[in-house]
Amino acid sequence: MSLQGAKVLKELSQIAIRTLTAIETGMRRSEYVDIETIAKFIKYNISSTEKILQKCHKLNLIHRWTGHYVGYELTIHGYDALALNALYEKGTIRGFGREKGVGKESRVYYGLDANDQEVILKFHRVGFTSFHQFKKKRTYTANKQHLSELYVSRLSAQTEYQWLQHAHKMGLDVPKPIDWNRHVIVEELILGVDLVKLKKLTDPEATLHAILDFMKIAWQEGNFVHGDLSEHNIIMNYDEIPIIFDFPQTISSKEQNSIELLERDIDNILTFFERKHKISLDRKETIKVILDE
Ligand SMILES: Nc1ncnc2c1ncn2[C@@H]1O[C@H](COP(=O)(O)OP(=O)(O)OP(=O)(O)O)[C@@H](O)[C@H]1O
Ligand SMILES: [Mg+2]
Repeated sequence: MSLQGAKVLKELSQIAIRTLTAIETGMRRSEYVDIETIAKFIKYNISSTEKILQKCHKLNLIHRWTGHYVGYELTIHGYDALALNALYEKGTIRGFGREKGVGKESRVYYGLDANDQEVILKFHRVGFTSFHQFKKKRTYTANKQHLSELYVSRLSAQTEYQWLQHAHKMGLDVPKPIDWNRHVIVEELILGVDLVKLKKLTDPEATLHAILDFMKIAWQEGNFVHGDLSEHNIIMNYDEIPIIFDFPQTISSKEQNSIELLERDIDNILTFFERKHKISLDRKETIKVILDE
């Protein structure tokens, strides 16, 4: 599936981008932004502004709402376009490629960085599937709902980027974080195979211990818990080193439920290795070692 915001980016003039930015800025104050506010921001008259809005609307980058006034909001495609545009402008990326995967809360694409190296672009998508039903049921929150969807996707990207940076600085085996903008993260492309897809491992014991070591160092030295660790979020690179990714659920070990999350991560890994690679370790003993008790 292609990404609408990326597909239409080349067609967008500077003023169309300014218009999207005007709406994004206006959405901090109200859910829908009226045309007067937009025109003032881009310094165009109303009828010229109207034309630009029509084009953005046709491209599905904005949504028009008619209530006691007419207002506009960004769609996720408009938000994608703004984030990608910013990453191009900064020189972080110079190309956008095919899809790598669709997750529950993200869409992952290949890109090219400033040196023409392949990188990963992860577009966070939080709360988009159940959004319409949610809005119908809970009208009292409807006013804030759309803003908060873009906002929570951005927060999710920010959380992931920060923990990725922290883990990478500690020398843990994670993709190198390169940059982020809004709800999009740019990170190193890991060449390898998702652990879940591998039928056999050369040395399953060593792989299991490397993953447990990751959790132990993260907890004891990095003071964090991955929070969504499983065979789905590990890539075996071509040197057979397990690389851990997907950090939006990560929390500090100081948080109240951190031990619970750590135990769940440990369970996921032990269950997977037991089922698929026939290695069983004692659960309690493993938790003790990781917690350093
Ligand atoms: N840095 C990377 N290098 C290579 N492939 C990656 C990288 N990051 C993500 N991927 C691929 O994209 C897929 C989805 O990424 P990720 O797990 O971060 O997103 P997600 O939304 O959490 O997905 P899910 O809900 O399936 O866990 C991964 O399974 C992996 O195959
Ligand atoms: Mg994942």
